[in-house]
Amino acid sequence: MKRLFIILASLLALQVQAQNNDWENPAVLGINKLPYHATLQLPSKEKDCKEIVSLDGQWLFHWSRNPEERIVDFYREDYDVSQWGKIAVPGNWQTQGYGTPIYININYPFVKDRPRVTTEPPKDWTAYENRNPVGQYVTFVEVTKEMLNQKNLILHFGGVHSAMYVWVNGQKVGYSQNSMSPAEFDVTKYLRKGKNKLAVEVYRWSDGSYLEDQDYWRLSGIFRSVQLWVRPLVHIADYQVTAVPNADYSKFTVNAKIAVCNTGKKTAKDLLVQLQMACPELYGVNVNPNHWNITNQRLPKLPAGDTITVELAYQYNTPPHLWTAEKPWLYPFTLQLLGMKDSKNDEEFAYHFGVKKVEIVGEVFKINGKNVKLRGVNRHDHHPKTGRYVDDATYEEDIRLMKQANINFLRTSHYPDREYLYELCDRWGIYVMDEANHETHGYGYANKVMGEDLTFQKAHVDRAESLVKRDFNHPSIILWSLGNEGGVGPNIEAMYNKVRELDSTRPPFYDSDRRYSAIWDDSYLYPEDLRREARKVSDKPFMMREYAHAMGNSCGNLQEYWDVIYADSSIVGAAVWDWVDQGLSIDHLPLTIDHSAAHDEAVANNGQWSMVNNQWAYGGDFGDKPNDGPFCINGLIAPDRKPHPHYYEVQYVYQPLQFVRKDNGRIDIINRDYFTDPSEYDITYDTLRYDGEVLLNVAAHLKENKPWAKKGFVVAREQFVLTPYVFPVKQGDGSFVTSVSDVTKEPSPCFTIDGNKLTSWIVDGKELLKAPLEPYFWKPENDNQNAAGFARRVAMWKEVRDVKVTYTVINDRSIRVDMDYQPTANDRPVMPKFGMRMRLPKDFTQIKYYGRGPWENYPDRKRSALLGIYEMPLSEYETEYIHPQDNGNRCDIRWFEIGSLRIEGAQPLCIRAWDYGEEDLEGAKHPNEINRGRFINLNIDLNIHGVGGADTWGKRTLPQYTIDGNQPHHYSFTMTFLPSRM
Ligand code: GAL
Ligand code: MG
Repeated sequence: MKRLFIILASLLALQVQAQNNDWENPAVLGINKLPYHATLQLPSKEKDCKEIVSLDGQWLFHWSRNPEERIVDFYREDYDVSQWGKIAVPGNWQTQGYGTPIYININYPFVKDRPRVTTEPPKDWTAYENRNPVGQYVTFVEVTKEMLNQKNLILHFGGVHSAMYVWVNGQKVGYSQNSMSPAEFDVTKYLRKGKNKLAVEVYRWSDGSYLEDQDYWRLSGIFRSVQLWVRPLVHIADYQVTAVPNADYSKFTVNAKIAVCNTGKKTAKDLLVQLQMACPELYGVNVNPNHWNITNQRLPKLPAGDTITVELAYQYNTPPHLWTAEKPWLYPFTLQLLGMKDSKNDEEFAYHFGVKKVEIVGEVFKINGKNVKLRGVNRHDHHPKTGRYVDDATYEEDIRLMKQANINFLRTSHYPDREYLYELCDRWGIYVMDEANHETHGYGYANKVMGEDLTFQKAHVDRAESLVKRDFNHPSIILWSLGNEGGVGPNIEAMYNKVRELDSTRPPFYDSDRRYSAIWDDSYLYPEDLRREARKVSDKPFMMREYAHAMGNSCGNLQEYWDVIYADSSIVGAAVWDWVDQGLSIDHLPLTIDHSAAHDEAVANNGQWSMVNNQWAYGGDFGDKPNDGPFCINGLIAPDRKPHPHYYEVQYVYQPLQFVRKDNGRIDIINRDYFTDPSEYDITYDTLRYDGEVLLNVAAHLKENKPWAKKGFVVAREQFVLTPYVFPVKQGDGSFVTSVSDVTKEPSPCFTIDGNKLTSWIVDGKELLKAPLEPYFWKPENDNQNAAGFARRVAMWKEVRDVKVTYTVINDRSIRVDMDYQPTANDRPVMPKFGMRMRLPKDFTQIKYYGRGPWENYPDRKRSALLGIYEMPLSEYETEYIHPQDNGNRCDIRWFEIGSLRIEGAQPLCIRAWDYGEEDLEGAKHPNEINRGRFINLNIDLNIHGVGGADTWGKRTLPQYTIDGNQPHHYSFTMTFLPSRM
């Protein structure tokens, strides 16, 4: 009893202690934080805004492994920080040498014991030693007399992970959490002329982290820009502009709600709030940027401390140029707050609006009245060197690559990105689902725990509110998402109500509690299940917010998905998971981190990690525990933005035009877009003749330059075979025939045949084979197959059975190979591949072939790879996946030359060539661990198991892309040694 009492007492003590920490108390989301508001100035025009002073740069920094070891009085003016190390702001501290990045998917990286985050974890967890690291930042801000004269000074943080305290000149200013949204504080009364000390203390984890359990690197720090806004005492605090067409799109209205506040001590008088818009009648037609429509309202009086919301409306009696992702028409405007007596405190912001309508009509989702399909992708805000901070140039690269891949829809999984990304989507044309910073997956998908815990309700709502308030004015946003893989229950309902209260023009979306979503989501279905499930739901549109898990060598059967999506008007679309591999290019030296204090101090003092062998790091590479290994490597592009082969398949399947050839030779165009006519492209027809085969390549090109591609860029293409290839059937010169069972004459002395194997081939006195040509049915797994237990299910194919090879020697330099498989059982699993393997001299590194290319393709992912003659070094023929796995196949090969060897199929072939063997690939965790360069490994196959296209947690390759082990198979090819090439 006594013991129980002690336990209870100490539990209570813990509770009290936790409640004392703001960062372990869900009732405290901020202290002295200003209300969220819209981005006032277009991000690209921030430099023209005279109110903004950037505080970005090198700040002083001190890192502690836990709150107890932090320097408690570092913020004081007399505390000497001159010996501190430096850190870049914006930036994450783990990518700059302080502490350990942790990559984990579903679980929390700390012990789940909400609202506490410092409960003792198992000893081998990163969080054991580094219980809750604290980063202390100091910078000095120069303030002039003008900046203090009749001004309101606001400190703006774009994003800080996960919670922070702020001091100015030794005085506490406030506290904030909700890491992916801005935090602002009024610092007018703390600043003074001259040098000011700004101190920020950031906690790696807080109770807010319970809502930030996204599948991503867990990184910390001030990772977005910090600004000091020098504002007139009377200023525009917030504004929302809504521009919608009328029912028949013949007119439109622009409605602006502008909140003006007076932070001064005196009543402000005679103000004018004014909106100037590019005149729609002329804008873009006469392109007269000086022709504006002006609407304004007088504000005779604004008492001190008050905020007044002014509404300005403008009715246009002309049809709008609508904003769509296809034609992102923007109307620029400026918003001004003018003093009628003098202009010294005038304010002016530049922004833009787009006119559009988002509707749900029954089970159909519509944009501007059309059943637009969302050809989507999910994207994490990731940079391989700076982690959570993604610079403008990388944003531009991402949106350019998306547009070039015909992607028209982006989900900002799973939180709001930096403001500039949305501006790019506005300008270049991408529909956006903007997502709240909310995931509680560690409690389970659609959990009641977090959905019903009312102590966390305010925190949920805070995340919805900050989302909508900041990004309201971006025309590209079509849906607000309440989060990802979160709870079900009243907390979600409260978020939903908040979003609807703040914006009636864009519907809320949510995956985990469908009562609070305008669209029914069911993700990662097989194409046939998508067809079936979408039919069942009749009261809402249907979408897969995530599908085609693009991990490693993947994205098979994409066309099958889109055949279903295009055939059902209730399916809105689907978004690939995900855009970019989240590999980090930083490396601890050694790879496994030493958690000792001495180590941490040493690292903290000398800054940057160095890059090791240019390898991309994933979970576990930093000694981070627990971790989810390479599960963060699932993008269409590599961390350095180099497209993977499956990027091109997405580009093809998402193309807006489809070409169909009719029996009479006519080519029909199916237009998948609604606001662009096919005549707006240049369509070209090219007839290609290769070895008797006649191909017709059709392509649609841009007629003019776009911000994301030049004139001539191919947005859609197709290939038709007009005269098929005639596969040669070589008879040999009849001099002799060898076969396993029937050797009629002495074989050529150049060839040694042993059973089914060709064990030696001597050409010009040299041995060509580094390992025999032999039947070989095994292939290493890719990530999808690994997750689906492939190796275990088909393990029997590591051994070859029921096969007979016939070798027909044509002459000393040429041999024909025939392979027959006649199953003697009827319960065999699918075959990994049907074909043969051999190993060639290591200098056979130049490849030329006629088949599908140029990029890697597999039976279920080959539509984007057109037939052609391609030439490349072996290093380009291989695909180097960050997590090594099967790669490099090309399908429908007619002939193939590698080094001095030419292979001709008697039917289409699949060929993979590597400078390493299967055994080297299968053991490696990173590309630099692959033992390369001893030989060339060549697999010559009739067929190979498709890559799979649904998920990486169990779903399999579609049956039509597998090889039946219970059916007979036969194939044949000829190998010729080319004398001129050695
Ligand atoms: C999804 C989840 C994503 C990601 C993906 C697996 O279910 O929403 O955040 O974890 O699985 O890569
Ligand atoms: Mg998750």
